[in-house]
Amino acid sequence: MDSLLIYGSYGYTGRLIAREAVARGGSPVVAGRDGRAVARQADALGVEGRVVDLESSTLASHLERFDAVVNCAGPFADTAEPLVTACLETGTDYLDITGEFPVFECLRQRDDAAREAGITLLPGVGFDVVPSDCLAAFLAAQLPDGDALRLGIKSGGGLSRGTARTLVEHLGSGGVVRRNGRLIQVPAAFRTREIDFGDGPEHAVTIPWGDVVTAAHSTGIESIEVYAAAPSWATKGLAAVDSLGWLLERDPVETLLKRLVDTRLDGPDETQLATGSAVVWGEVTDEETGRRARARLRTPNPYALTAESAVAAAERILEGRNRVPNGFQTPASAFGSEFALELSGTERELVAAPDDSIEPTRTLVESE
Ligand SMILES: NC(=O)c1ccc[n+]([C@@H]2O[C@H](COP(=O)([O-])OP(=O)(O)OC[C@H]3O[C@@H](n4cnc5c(N)ncnc54)[C@H](OP(=O)(O)O)[C@@H]3O)[C@@H](O)[C@H]2O)c1
Repeated sequence: MDSLLIYGSYGYTGRLIAREAVARGGSPVVAGRDGRAVARQADALGVEGRVVDLESSTLASHLERFDAVVNCAGPFADTAEPLVTACLETGTDYLDITGEFPVFECLRQRDDAAREAGITLLPGVGFDVVPSDCLAAFLAAQLPDGDALRLGIKSGGGLSRGTARTLVEHLGSGGVVRRNGRLIQVPAAFRTREIDFGDGPEHAVTIPWGDVVTAAHSTGIESIEVYAAAPSWATKGLAAVDSLGWLLERDPVETLLKRLVDTRLDGPDETQLATGSAVVWGEVTDEETGRRARARLRTPNPYALTAESAVAAAERILEGRNRVPNGFQTPASAFGSEFALELSGTERELVAAPDDSIEPTRTLVESE
């Protein structure tokens, strides 16, 4: 992986990704805007480091020699645009680990430009959205007439600073769902439902997740909702936060919350990385006939999965193994629905077959 640049490599998740890339025998170039942090990391990993400022007018010249860049610098609302613009100029494939739906939507709109430039735009190669996107594609293949998709996410095992800062940035901006092909702004926690993540029904609320863009691309399904497991008391809290949107969007409040995040959060430790887990649930329904397919995908700790999936995706892009098409792609459209099962410790279970008259097949597919 000599021609891979990892940008934002010294942040919490960037460090995991750079470490994984080197452990797999690669020699990526690590980069970011802080010269000292880059040099320290490059020395420790025995790889080349580069100081790259996204606001620099010479940004494209830094990307010229690379076949692909993995952007780990979030919030991606700030970093994806300049890097993608430079990648279009230099013919460099772009990957990132965003989960932010506006970023997915923005990159989707650059599909034509990416095809013209002969590059792949592949955002979301982390826990958001690899398992959910692959599960959605798997379910859509089970029920090709399905026209509604619901996804649910249950995860624990600690938050990194960057994830929490990204969440703070989007607090108070409500939610989003896809209806008949259009992204619709809705209030936070707009819908609730019970979801069985494997231990019986649990309360879940809608969240503004990237799958409202990516799963539509991967499956062609145009009505999509994404839920997260949350205690029922949290629904009211989320709605209240929504009503405080005007306050949260004010700079001093956002700055204060981010400062709190910076002092309190450090990301999952090695034990949490090794022992944490998550479950992604999905359901595709044919609204007219009521037929449905339902499945669950269990994964390791989301950050551990992100490190592996981001590097695996970059390797595939660089090797051209799957002849990934140019233009905007999602993990499933680029690599197929089984990509998630090639990652360590993942396990998929089909819990409801499309034809209700047929006994649900409890097929279990496990990765090594
Ligand atoms: N897809 C997934 O499942 C997944 C998993 C993990 C994380 N994430 C996302 O990845 C992002 C990073 O998370 P993290 O835990 O690694 O956070 P982190 O430890 O705070 O690291 C963030 C990194 O991004 C850099 N950065 C931020 N804004 C920048 C800008 N405008 N220009 C240049 N560099 C910038 C930071 O550099 P400085 O220190 O110089 O500011 C730092 O290297 C978050 O948005 C998080 O939500 C997604």
